[in-house]
Order: sequence, then structure tokens, then C-alpha cells
Amino acid sequence: MSPIALRRHYASAAAAVAPEATEQPFFPDEPAGPILKTEIPGPQSVKAIEKLGKVFDTRSLNMMANYQRSYGNYIADLDGNVLLDVYAQIASIPVGYNNPTLLLAATSPEMASAIINRPALGNFPQHDWADILESGILKVAPKGLNQVFTGQSGSDANELAYKAAFMWKRQHQRGGAHIDFTDHEISSSMTNQSPGAPELSILSFTSAFHGRLFGSLSTTRSKAIHKLDIPAFDWPQAPFPVCKYPLDQYAAENAAEEQRCLDETERLIKEWHNPPAAVVVEPIQSEGGDNHASPNFFKGLRALTKKHDILFIVDEVQTGVGATGKFWAHEHWGLETPPDMVTFSKKAQTAGYYFGNSELRPNKPYRQFNTWMGDPARAILFRAIIQEIERLNLVENTAVTGQYLYEGLERLAQRYPSEVKNLRGKGQGTFIAWDSPRRDEVLKKAKSVGVNVGGSGATAVRLRPMLIFQKHHADLLLEGLEKIFKS
Ligand SMILES: Cc1ncc(COP(=O)(O)O)c(C=O)c1O
Repeated sequence: MSPIALRRHYASAAAAVAPEATEQPFFPDEPAGPILKTEIPGPQSVKAIEKLGKVFDTRSLNMMANYQRSYGNYIADLDGNVLLDVYAQIASIPVGYNNPTLLLAATSPEMASAIINRPALGNFPQHDWADILESGILKVAPKGLNQVFTGQSGSDANELAYKAAFMWKRQHQRGGAHIDFTDHEISSSMTNQSPGAPELSILSFTSAFHGRLFGSLSTTRSKAIHKLDIPAFDWPQAPFPVCKYPLDQYAAENAAEEQRCLDETERLIKEWHNPPAAVVVEPIQSEGGDNHASPNFFKGLRALTKKHDILFIVDEVQTGVGATGKFWAHEHWGLETPPDMVTFSKKAQTAGYYFGNSELRPNKPYRQFNTWMGDPARAILFRAIIQEIERLNLVENTAVTGQYLYEGLERLAQRYPSEVKNLRGKGQGTFIAWDSPRRDEVLKKAKSVGVNVGGSGATAVRLRPMLIFQKHHADLLLEGLEKIFKS
């Protein structure tokens, strides 16, 4: 057997073992716990970082990893250290490092063809593109949305959605898809002037993060360092509720705060000089500090967008694909009508936006277009991820493990109230965070107790474990955190 065939053989054997209960390990041959051999970075890592630093900016480097040695929930470095990873490549690894099911998909002839014959999907889609979409990306489409436009990254997905929103809005204003552009529109578009380049906007919220490309960056409001020196659109920013946690204990105050924000959102929709074509919102503001709001707030936004005939875009780039204990976080809200568009990336390993209304397809070809328009290889990978999520019932696992982890953190918060403040994410799977007065020190110390964990906003410790994170991993995490809090 060739080495690849051998690996596929092992992979298919491992993939065939489906544990019956969530308590059984999904990866029985995962390390039993973190392995610490040296300080991090150890000598081999230091050498490798120095080498890399000569040709690539390493100033944002967190740790140098060896992905061939990483497995399941554990990330390995170059010095023999193996850490429990609850950061997971900025919340983007769904079902574990070197997952056997994914390895099987990755080494299939279908995948090889998709990689080496990458199609320009808008012009030359491959014969089975519809099947790949239907058995993958669209199989998990949010309720009410049955079409997709695929893209490359979270920022790209959002920008594509914004463009769809603007084209939809102008088409409405013009009176329908059949009405052609005027000569003035055509000529003014070429000089970046209205009406061809219309004075419209996308409304986003304080501390939102929607990406770093030009359009998406204008809707990002989390940190100045992302935005400095970059020209931006003159688009409105509504206040995102600053809620008190736990949400249910402060229900009345939070409801008042949410109403204040809804009122201000409506005022901006009505009065902003560049009227919004859409409102974009994250179900849980992630990069901006893990800020939550209640389903009522989001229902209120849906109602406002309907009332003012603009679109409601839900950015599920970070919340999507199971982490909150639902496949899509907005399922927690119980909306009567679905969002107009839902954007996705990260754990999907592909990207794009879902929509249901065919009017969101522009009236002419080539208006929403680029060379690749997505990537069948990444779509095949997402299909395998979905199969793995279904096989191991991972959305349910995340809900159950998340509750267990949250309860453990509540106990830690009682014991170490100065270390765990504003614990949040109850009932939201493993999408949990808290504020720490010494956040950066906690993140750094976590490595010395065998845990890789990230932060969000200025003070939050954010947990973003993979969907295969189980109760025994939660126990290890809680033990590690207690060691840090005691130190
Ligand atoms: C909610 C949200 N939207 C968009 C993005 C941008 O995604 P990308 O970095 O893939 O462009 C991110 C990235 O963290 C995100 O969290």
C-alpha cells in the first residue's frame, strides 16, 4: 500500500467508530492531557521563529505549531509540548486536528481533482457543483434560506452580502429588475459619483467586527488598530446593548438598554444622510469582547428592517457551525421570518452568504462575480465536516458540554470572584467568556498549565473550543484555570 493509501485505510477505520454516548471520547487515542516538556516557546520553536521572522512578520505570532503532530483537541509545538486548544485557530477548526473523516475527504480523488483543476465557478462550474452544494453547504442552510453565493473568507462573505444588499436596494428604488440603468447612472458610476455609485450605507454596531477588507472594515468598530490609516465609508454606527450578566438576572435593566439601542438604530435608519440598505449584526459580538444581547433585541432589529424596507444580514462567521449549541446561533432567537442573508466562514472552512429571496440575485450576470466565486475543494471539506458533525452529534455535544463547562466556571467565579467577572454564554454551548482584570497575563500563563486560550475585546478571556470538546476536556480546562487563578 502507498503511504497515502495506508493513511486513508487507517482514517476510514477510525472514522467508522461512532461512540454511542457523548461521555465516550470521540478520539480515544488523543493525549490523556496536556504534555509540557519545556517553557513555551522552547528552544526549537525559538529557532524556527527567528528563521521565519526573516521572511514573514512574526509580531503577531502566538505559538509556532506542528500540525502534523497535533491531534483532536490538542495542538503540538516543536519542542514536544502538547496543549489543550480552546482557541482553535481563532475559532475556525471544527472537528479536531487531523480528523480521520476529513483526512479521508482530503485524500479522495474528488478532492485532488478539485484542488488541481480549480474552476472559475461563474463561467465553468464543474458538473457536480449542484450536488456538492446540496449535499454540503445547502444541507445545513439556515431555515428559509435555500440559495448561496460562495466566497473566500469571512470579510469577503460580508462584502459580497453588502453588495447584494446595495444592488437590491437600488433595483427597488428604480422600480424593478426589468428597469435598465440610465446613462447618467452608468457614467457617474465610472467616476465613483452618485447616482451610479449611490450614497447608501450599511448600518453596524459599536464594537462589531465584520472583517478587514475595505467595505467590511467600514462596518468593523472593535479596535482602532484595525482601522487606522484606511479610508472608510461614511456609514452609521448604532449602539450595541451593554448588558449586565447573567442576562436573566438583569432582565429588566437589559431590556431597557436594548430598547434604547433599538430606538437609536431606528433613528439612524431614518435620519442618516447615507441611508442604510441593510443592518449587519453578529449574534454574539465576538472579536469586540463577547457581547451578548437577548433574542428580543434581535427580533427588534428584524422588525425594524422589515418596517423600513431594508435588509437584515446576520454575520455568523464566528458563531456559526455549531459552537453555540445550535447549528446557527440565530436559531436561538425564534425569528418569525428568517434573516435576509446569513454570512459564514471559519468552522465551515469555506465562506459565503445564504439567502432565500431570488431578488437578491442581481438583475444582470457579472454584477456579483469574481474569478473563483468560492472553491469546490473547500466546499467538499465543509461537506465532510457536516458529515462528521452529524455522525458524532456534535451540535448536541456542544450544548451539553457547554452547560457542564459553564457550571464549572460558575463555581470558579464564586471561588475567585476577582478573576472571573461577567461570566457569559449561558445556554450558548461552549461560546463562553468572562472578563479578567489581568487578562493578558492569564492568557500567557495558560500555556504553562497546558492550555491554549485566546482573548476578545480589551478584557475578555474567550473560549472557542472545537465541537469535539467533551466533559473530560472541560475538567482539564477548569483544573488549569484554577491553577492560574491560584498563582
Ligand atoms: C463575526 C466575524 N465576521 C467576519 C470576520 C472576518 O473573517 P475573516 O478573518 O475570515 O475575513 C470575523 C473574523 O474574526 C468575525 O469574527
